[in-house]
Amino acid sequence: MKILVVGGAGYIGSHCVRQLQQAGHAPVVLDNLSFGHRKAVAPEVPFYQADLGDQPEVEKILRNEKIEGVMHFAAFAYVGESVTNPLKYYFNNVAATLHLLQAMLNTGVSKFVFSSTCATYGVPAKLPITEDLPQQPINPYGQTKLDVENVLKNLATAHGFSSAAFRYFNASGAAEDGTIGEDHTPETHLIPLVIDAALGKRENIAIFGDDYDTPDGTCLRDYIHVDDLARAHIAVFEKLADPGTTLFYNLGTGTPTSVKEVIQAVEKVSGKKVPTVIKERRAGDPPALYANAEKAQKELSWKIKFPDIHGIIKTAWKWHSNHPEGYQDR
Ligand SMILES: NC(=O)c1ccc[n+]([C@@H]2O[C@H](COP(=O)([O-])OP(=O)(O)OC[C@H]3O[C@@H](n4cnc5c(N)ncnc54)[C@H](O)[C@@H]3O)[C@@H](O)[C@H]2O)c1
Repeated sequence: MKILVVGGAGYIGSHCVRQLQQAGHAPVVLDNLSFGHRKAVAPEVPFYQADLGDQPEVEKILRNEKIEGVMHFAAFAYVGESVTNPLKYYFNNVAATLHLLQAMLNTGVSKFVFSSTCATYGVPAKLPITEDLPQQPINPYGQTKLDVENVLKNLATAHGFSSAAFRYFNASGAAEDGTIGEDHTPETHLIPLVIDAALGKRENIAIFGDDYDTPDGTCLRDYIHVDDLARAHIAVFEKLADPGTTLFYNLGTGTPTSVKEVIQAVEKVSGKKVPTVIKERRAGDPPALYANAEKAQKELSWKIKFPDIHGIIKTAWKWHSNHPEGYQDR
């Protein structure tokens, strides 16, 4: 299939482009490189440096490339910034996405896979998180993702548009061959930060709160390998054949892992000591967020290849230790 990967130069998008190639599909990338890396995408993949809100340009690409479906990874994703500058998030994550969807309707492309987030659940009413729990985001970032999920339901009813929204938990790890991986500036994700501390690139790693009501007192999260995420995107496409299909899936492993367990796993994989400092809890950090990950595994031809945090961190360590400065293309 010929798939337009919007945000395909970013962390998760670039891994999905790779997986699409390996599965024999033909990805085409659109990315404005506001955050992504040209080097994360193989030179043979058609690449358009453009903004997804540029509707005429997107329509041209959809037509000229004879695109059959779209995977949409492009967004701003810094929760704190979304609180201080919400319009930036509504413009890019919602308004620009409306232009992309309009371009799809205008060109008759009606299969869409969307990067949503567990942040749409806010502070969950119960654990593990199932897809039917109320979605009550506690920050503008999560709200922008929920807004798009709702638009997708409306488009299914009005136009027979078919879509799947994946609510990711914590994307992590890197390609197994170590050639592409995570390179965010600024980096806010725990695993790359802990690895930076192991590599001596930062003095220590802060643990925000060690007095939560969790087994070791630190927050629990659900880490899923980026290639497992990517493969779910490909698997879902066969479910989008019927017009008006609207699917929602959690993408996590379902295993809660604490901040301390991540640090210990990095120490074990790298053989290096990670200095830590205990700090105050951060406002808005729920003690535990992990998925009930059964629905996607039951309904899609998809299996988790990296169920264990050590396996995930091994791939991340390979990437970061061989590319301590990332892609070095900025
Ligand atoms: N990384 C995670 O753990 C995680 C968790 C939940 C949800 N998500 C969602 O998954 C998606 C991908 O996350 P990521 O970590 O790969 O982010 P990323 O920043 O690495 O990738 C996003 C890509 O989109 C591009 N982009 C942004 N705005 C654009 C625009 N207007 N036009 C064209 N390109 C644009 C950026 O240049 C970048 O290459 C995001 O939508 C994010 O909200 C990520």
